[in-house]
Amino acid sequence: MKNILITGGAGFIGSHVVRLFVNKYPEYNVVNLDKLTYAGNLENLKDIESKSNYKFVKGDIVDGDFIQQLFKDYSFDGVIHLAAESHVDRSITNPMEFIYTNIVGTVNLLNAAKSHWEGSFSEKKFYHISTDEVYGSLGDTGIFTEETSYDPHSPYSASKASSDHLVRSYHDTFGLPVVISNCSNNYGAFQFPEKLIPLFINNIKNKKPLPVYGKGVNIRDWLFVEDHAAAIDIIFHRGGKGETYNIGGNNEWKNIDLIKKMCDIMDRKLGRNPGTSEKLITYVKDRAGHDLRYAIDSSKLQKELGWMPSLEFEVGLEKTIDWYLENEEWMNNVTSGDYQKYYEEQYEKRENL
Ligand code: NAD
Ligand code: DAU
Repeated sequence: MKNILITGGAGFIGSHVVRLFVNKYPEYNVVNLDKLTYAGNLENLKDIESKSNYKFVKGDIVDGDFIQQLFKDYSFDGVIHLAAESHVDRSITNPMEFIYTNIVGTVNLLNAAKSHWEGSFSEKKFYHISTDEVYGSLGDTGIFTEETSYDPHSPYSASKASSDHLVRSYHDTFGLPVVISNCSNNYGAFQFPEKLIPLFINNIKNKKPLPVYGKGVNIRDWLFVEDHAAAIDIIFHRGGKGETYNIGGNNEWKNIDLIKKMCDIMDRKLGRNPGTSEKLITYVKDRAGHDLRYAIDSSKLQKELGWMPSLEFEVGLEKTIDWYLENEEWMNNVTSGDYQKYYEEQYEKRENL
């Protein structure tokens, strides 16, 4: 029997990881620790909430005493740390939350693991989930490898870079058994509609403007979230201690091309004339410090641990659009209340180009 702590399990990627672990490993006890910020939603886990090997604990990783007590109560064998403030635009308007959760919260977890695991490091693992944004921005060519120097540009990516450095320092200084992965942009079910794909699906459906930052020429490498969860499973169980693994979809899309593709698919699915939704595209003031291009070389993970992305992007995107169209109630619940205020601040006050 293994006791596993998954932090941020009520969020987008965390909920897929929790579901995978609870279903695939009935012999593990999975504890999902989440503060339930605006991004955390227990609706994401309805299908597994009554499983006997699953427990939800509401709490804040910034509270060091609470984290120490949690480690005492549960004797964790492993940690998969996903809890974070994750949206770049929010980090531009309110950086401090990112500093507290992403940096201080991560150190609280490291401290708890270090003190509670003393003497048994060889049987434990602390897995920190990070992002490709720590590597900065690429020009037209190039690719991020595990050796690429860190060069973060937003408060979000700088806070994730800082947490990565701290995780490595606990390995190098104290011998804590850590592993880190840096993944590209995820898409799929249960993603909060502040991120490009679910935001635009919702706006297309409701015939609202599609706010494209700048000229829409930025490039992202998209990976289906269940493929990320599968990589996390493999790295948690077989990743080398002290190692880093890049995870990516080998699937680069210029924003404007992706947006037009989504418009086409949705015109078809909603029975609209071809070209109808494209008319909603509105070019707006660019994101400050907007990274031009991300591209990930995941060959280390593929060669050493045998992971591969499983889904064609076209298939994954159709599947994702279907999910949001079929789960109207989920979307309505997460876009009521505070979301309206966020939307107004972020978009209704933003200059059009
Ligand atoms: P998300 O914003 O959807 O979910 C974050 C979760 O963390 C939420 O459930 C939230 O309630 C919880 N949380 C936030 N602050 C907390 C705190 N102080 N204490 C406890 N819980 C807290 O994020 P996501 O997109 O699922 O990302 C998960 C992780 O993966 C993050 O670490 C992110 O940096 C990383 N990542 C995300 C992507 C992506 O494309 N979304 C890509 C690579 C890496
Ligand atoms: O690369 C991994 C990262 O991907 C993760 O670490 C982050 O947590 C995750 O949020 C994501 O960051 P991005 O900033 O790339 O994702 P986002 O969905 O916010 O934006 C994707 C691209 O679309 C980016 O170039 C900005 C652009 N965009 C985004 C929004 C929300 C728009 O043009 N308009 C928008 O309204």
